[in-house]
Amino acid sequence: MTGGFKMKVLVVGKGGREHALAWKLAQSPRVTRVFCAPGNPGTRGFANNVPIEPDDIRALVDFAKGEGIGLTVVGPEDSLDKGLVDAFQKAGLKVFGPTKQAAQLESSKVFAKTVMRYADVPTPEFKVCDHPDQARAWIQTRDYPLVVKANGLAAGKGVIVCATGEEALKAVERIMVREEFGRAAGRQIVLEKRLIGPELSILALVSGRTIITLDPCQDHKAVFDDDKGPNTGGMGAYCPAPLGTNKIMSQVETDVLVPTVHAMKRKRMPFLGVLYVGLIVTNQGPRVLEYNCRFGDPETQPLLMRLKTDLLDLLEAAVDNRLDEFEGKIEWDPRPAVCVVLASQGYPGPVEKGFVIHGLKEAAKLPDVQVFHAGTHYDGRDVVTWGGRVLAVTAMGDDILDARKKAYDAVNLIQFRGMQFRKDIGLKALNPLPLAALPPVTPAPATPAPAPEP
Ligand code: GLY
Repeated sequence: MTGGFKMKVLVVGKGGREHALAWKLAQSPRVTRVFCAPGNPGTRGFANNVPIEPDDIRALVDFAKGEGIGLTVVGPEDSLDKGLVDAFQKAGLKVFGPTKQAAQLESSKVFAKTVMRYADVPTPEFKVCDHPDQARAWIQTRDYPLVVKANGLAAGKGVIVCATGEEALKAVERIMVREEFGRAAGRQIVLEKRLIGPELSILALVSGRTIITLDPCQDHKAVFDDDKGPNTGGMGAYCPAPLGTNKIMSQVETDVLVPTVHAMKRKRMPFLGVLYVGLIVTNQGPRVLEYNCRFGDPETQPLLMRLKTDLLDLLEAAVDNRLDEFEGKIEWDPRPAVCVVLASQGYPGPVEKGFVIHGLKEAAKLPDVQVFHAGTHYDGRDVVTWGGRVLAVTAMGDDILDARKKAYDAVNLIQFRGMQFRKDIGLKALNPLPLAALPPVTPAPATPAPAPEP
């Protein structure tokens, strides 16, 4: 499995996830040099940052060809949706990630729901609407809370969780009429029944028929403690999440991953890359809220802290269609990892940037701690804030409380103006919500006949 050729690798993206991917790849004895396009001040310390944006597909292809890159790993969903993988494959370059067509599982909520229905994947009841009047009429016939989802990519902001029908009507107005998330993203929407329960992120490596499920993670999407406030890209995560019991993992594999991967194959859109399933766990089993087609952020940070297997060997095997060599062989550090995101004031809304970040060197000296950069910038003298999510402070410990302590000890050494973070990351691991306490899921209507293939 190991011992292949040495090579240069390229990581596309500039967030905390890409810092973690580059950091892990740099540990492979087979990697001679890591390039990040464009990377961030955190990757600058050990990799070569290249000033190419993740959506400049032509420049990325030219760079990879010119530099003789052996494997490219794509971080952001936008690059996948812009056809980065297709362009690299066409140029004969090895790249880890799905094609534009396969990445519709994430880039189109309507496509995703159609696949789920076709493959009989358990998901909350939903309705696809392509006109606001149709959406309003459906909302008025529902007696339960809804989630309103813009069809297209909207930087994680196009999903609006509503408590009342009135809120759902407002969400339709924002997405379809005012087109707040862009014209294309708002052309169609998915209205989905809102279920109550803890959420779980399951990431799987997929290549051909092989599906390797990675250890379960739990994200913290709401901006404030106790899951209060609007949803964000993710304010922290931990791994492994005890909510992902063997029973749940096996249900997800059998009822979600296998049928999805087979459905994509039957549609002649075979999936290669990370299939990340966002689930809600109900007392009738897991239900799929969404698919993502790439590593999660911030799930990747604690996940890769714990991964002992050589990441280059693993991703290259997936691209070479021999991922099966790793079945049952992925090695993990048994210790849990906790990641706390430090964000700018105002996030997930607009933020001010350019504030000096203090304490990075001190935090980096702590054992079992990695400070992954996200929205940061080096101004020639200091590292300053440069976005909503600024840093992902990640630590491993003997147990979840120890990992939390180490992560928050590091957080306490870091300061910048307006710094905000959640103080409860990882606490759910101590008390994964007892499923008996959850409200029952209304029995699903009789399974509809499989929809025709889209
Ligand atoms: N953690 C949420 C995401 O990566 O989309």
